[in-house]
Amino acid sequence: MSAVKVCAATEVELSSAVRVVIDNQAIALVKDSAGEIFAIGDTCTHGDVSLSEGFVEGETIECWAHGSHFSLRTGLALTLPAYEPVPVFTVTIVDGNVYIDPTPRYDYEREEA
Ligand code: FES
Repeated sequence: MSAVKVCAATEVELSSAVRVVIDNQAIALVKDSAGEIFAIGDTCTHGDVSLSEGFVEGETIECWAHGSHFSLRTGLALTLPAYEPVPVFTVTIVDGNVYIDPTPRYDYEREEA
């Protein structure tokens, strides 16, 4: 499936996240404090909790339920109790609009190399 237009980049506030569903996948669309936009799997790998309802801190999002932090760049679970990564999705901005490629990737292996 090719990239899907989800919203205007200005519709997402700094340090916040919104939940979008593409191709039956729940995705957290996140804008960090620097204005960079990321897309990661929305479901925490520790429980059935929406990460987009959590807290954006730097390049991480914190699950509101038990405090695990996930990297917005790699999807890695950085703190327990979650230990499995969430997928990341490619984001492109075209003419001020956000497009997400709903093909999930797991980039953490690249970062660890
Ligand atoms: S449900 Fe997310 S850390 Fe427990």
